[in-house]
Amino acid sequence: MTLQQLLGIELPIIQAPMAGVQGSALAVAVSNAGGLGSLPCAMLSLDAMRAELAAIKAQTSKPFNVNFFCHVPPTPDAEREAVWRAALSPYYQECGIDPHTTPVGPGRAPFSSEAAAVLSEFKPAVTSFHFGLPSAELLARVRAWGSKIVSSATTVDEARWLEAQEVDAIIAQGLEAGGHRGMFLSDDLTSQVGTFALLPQIVQAVKLPVIAAGGIADAKGVAAAMALGAAGVQIGTAYLLCPEATTSAVHRAALRSEAARHTALTNLFTGRPARGIVNRLMQELGPISSAAPAFPLAVAAIAPLRAKAESRGSGEFSPLWSGQNASGCKEIPAAQLTRELEAGIQ
Ligand SMILES: Cc1cc2nc3c(=O)[nH]c(=O)nc-3n(C[C@H](O)[C@H](O)[C@H](O)COP(=O)(O)O)c2cc1C
Repeated sequence: MTLQQLLGIELPIIQAPMAGVQGSALAVAVSNAGGLGSLPCAMLSLDAMRAELAAIKAQTSKPFNVNFFCHVPPTPDAEREAVWRAALSPYYQECGIDPHTTPVGPGRAPFSSEAAAVLSEFKPAVTSFHFGLPSAELLARVRAWGSKIVSSATTVDEARWLEAQEVDAIIAQGLEAGGHRGMFLSDDLTSQVGTFALLPQIVQAVKLPVIAAGGIADAKGVAAAMALGAAGVQIGTAYLLCPEATTSAVHRAALRSEAARHTALTNLFTGRPARGIVNRLMQELGPISSAAPAFPLAVAAIAPLRAKAESRGSGEFSPLWSGQNASGCKEIPAAQLTRELEAGIQ
């Protein structure tokens, strides 16, 4: 069975769910263009999630994907938090902010029973997860309404593990990919490999359809992934400048600039390694620091710095998530970009 048949889509092109930079509008545009649009829910309250899902249902009759993180929330560690706040204190002083009185933005909630209840009202065709899978009980609830289950693997071991949990398709997320590494069996960054090394090895190791992700920016990249055995592609970074994305002004400016050529994995913004354009905070404190609180607790300490800097047009404290190949970012409607990518499919 092809990925198109499995997921009920015309094109094996998945718009990567990208928490914080897109909502229903991007998902609707890509699904209506024949690809699979995705709604990331990691940063949405239950009410916001319901509103976004209703907006998608109202604007497309095509299949779409709903995406969740499924990390285990950590126990806060006061000592580590204090060390981290001390490391950030020169920045608080420089920006003239009292970090204790500044509101913190949305955290990152894992898939939950409450989220499953909201999702059951909409029964999306596809549900995808990052950082492994939720509990067997939660997964069974999602399966019960017929949703196909997809998750990211960053190693052959993770792909085999996902296959053993009977997911329907596996995303091979190469090291080039923007945003968080989906890694969940190991936290050893040296285990992470590039898309075109990972993809054929996962294709060989599992029987399921494999979706290639990471560094695919145009039709030629799509064709190359398909030539290496991908059943489809999941593309994130290339959609970030589309008008339907909610990418911030500083993030858009960075993606359009020369700075986008230099990305790195950093844990400073959330506590887990994620790929973003190198900026001041990454240069001065990282890009990886053992002092950063565990995911997603690190978000809180950076939030006021980020807000202050962004208010004066600077992204020096912002997570500027991007893959290694931002050359495919175009300020064109997402449907048009999807059609351009389609040229890479036989
Ligand atoms: C801004 C941004 C946010 C992301 N957020 C998520 C997310 O919420 N959930 C998820 O499963 N993957 C997320 N990813 C990773 C993508 O699913 C995908 O692996 C990646 O975009 C593919 O690489 P590319 O960006 O080079 O196309 C994000 C990627 C980016 C660039």
